[in-house]
This record gives sequence, C-alpha cells and structure tokens, in this order.
Amino acid sequence: MKKRTRSGKTKAADGQLALQLGEERLKAERLATIGLLASRLSGELRQPLSVIRNAIYFLNIHLSTDVDDKVRKHLGIMLREINGATRLVGNLSYLGSTRPPERGMSDIEVIVAAALDHIVRPPEVRIRLAIKPDAMLFCDPSQVRLALANIISNSAQALQSEGEIKVICTQTATETRIEVTDNGPGMTRDVLAQVFEPLFTTAEHRTGLGMTIVRHLVGANGGTVEVKSEPGKGTTVLLRFARFEHETGFPTKTNSAHQAKEG
Ligand SMILES: Nc1ncnc2c1ncn2[C@@H]1O[C@H](COP(=O)(O)OP(=O)(O)O)[C@@H](O)[C@H]1O
Ligand SMILES: [Mg+2]
Repeated sequence: MKKRTRSGKTKAADGQLALQLGEERLKAERLATIGLLASRLSGELRQPLSVIRNAIYFLNIHLSTDVDDKVRKHLGIMLREINGATRLVGNLSYLGSTRPPERGMSDIEVIVAAALDHIVRPPEVRIRLAIKPDAMLFCDPSQVRLALANIISNSAQALQSEGEIKVICTQTATETRIEVTDNGPGMTRDVLAQVFEPLFTTAEHRTGLGMTIVRHLVGANGGTVEVKSEPGKGTTVLLRFARFEHETGFPTKTNSAHQAKEG
C-alpha cells in the first residue's frame, strides 16, 4: 500500500471538498432553474385542468339518473386522473415559489378528506381514518392538503393493490400529530436516506418531488416531518405541529408561533 504524506492527504481532502461544494452549487442552480420553469408551467396548466374538472362536475350533475353505470365510472376515472395531475401541478408551483402560507384555524378532517379526494388509488386499498371530528390546526389548509395528498399518494402507489392506509390525528395541549401509515413494502435504508432529496425516485414516470415538497410545505406551516420505514413491514410518515394559546385556549410558554417548542 502507498504511503501518503500529510500534505498530500490534506490536498486530496481539499480537492474533494471543493468538488463537493461545486456539485452542491451546481445542484442548487439546477434546482433554481427547474423551479422557475416548473412554476411557469404550472401556472399555464392550472387553468385548463380546473376547466376540465368543472366540466366533469357539470356532466355528473346534469347526466340523467338512468345513465349507464359505465359512463359514471369513466367520469370518475377522469376526475381522479385530473386530481392527480392537479396535485403534480401544485407540487411544481411550490418548487419555484416562496409564497408564504395563509394560515388560519383549519379543520383537519376536512383537510384529510380533500387530500383523499386528490389521490388516485386502487379500490382494493383500504383507508382507515382516526381523526377527532373537531380537531383544528393553525395552518394554510391548501398547503397541508397538498402535503398529505403527496404522502397518501406515495402509500397508495407503494401498496399497488391490497393493503391499508391509516391516517391518525392526535392532539395534546402542545402538539398536533398527523400520522400516515401503510403496510406496504417499506423502504430500504438507502432509499429512506434519500427520501427528501429533490428528484429522487425509485419509480419510472414519477418526478421525485413529492417528499421534497412535503418537507417544504410542512416546514412553512411550522411543522416537522419524520419518516420511519422497514422493508417488508411498511412506512409511517409523521407530521408534528406545535399548538398555541389561540388554538387550545390554554396558555403556552410563548405566544410566538416560531419559538414554541414541540412537546
Ligand atoms: N409510503 C412509501 N412506501 C415505500 N416507499 C416510499 C413511500 N413513500 C416514499 N417512498 C419512496 O421514496 C421515493 C420518493 O418519493 P417522492 O419524493 O414522493 O417521489 P415519487 O413519488 O415521485 O417517487 C419514492 O420513489 C419511493 O421509493
Ligand atoms: Mg410521490
């Protein structure tokens, strides 16, 4: 084995670091360009998607009640696919945007129901909900909905056919937890380590933006994301949001939304 000098080692390490920093900068620049393109594209696509969605709703309402079940079924398929595309466009729009959340007291059950509306899932995938009917969260509901739609969509895609997705929400005086668990194939250590990386995907025809956006949106709303996964057992994504005095009616240590500690 070759013996390296001290300085040789340092130089090599410096070179490595410079290379790494260069790569990081390139990655950041690439992401910024992708972000800009993405938000422009999503701006253009949002309108036609929403027009198509409204047209489907209109057809559904105005079709006579004795219309063939197959017609309704296909309208349902169209609506699901349009909703999936809308989620993708929503993801793209957040890539290039720094729009601050519009936070208000929001009903968690309504947010979860809207998220479920936006995902494409096989009928064999069961959904189990455990959410207190009056549970509220101080957040931008459309942002948290998009985050949950991404998470639940990943679970549905991982399950493919049979399986169960649980959405559980629990609240203490200081914290709201929203947990999405599936009993799908889970992730290897290697995949788990990269799950938040922009453009990281293990699937063909997917963007690898979902979890990047989830972390961005949840963070913008004052929350954190934890992912636990075991191959063969399944995956749990846990969102944690601190609760504040105006949410609970109980005094907390601080009134500042940004300083409150998660309990
Ligand atoms: N619930 C899950 N079960 C198994 N793998 C998952 C799950 N959620 C995410 N992953 C893995 O993380 C990767 C990145 O997810 P995401 O950022 O949403 O991008 P995409 O869904 O476009 O691949 C997925 O390709 C998949 O390998
Ligand atoms: Mg995804």
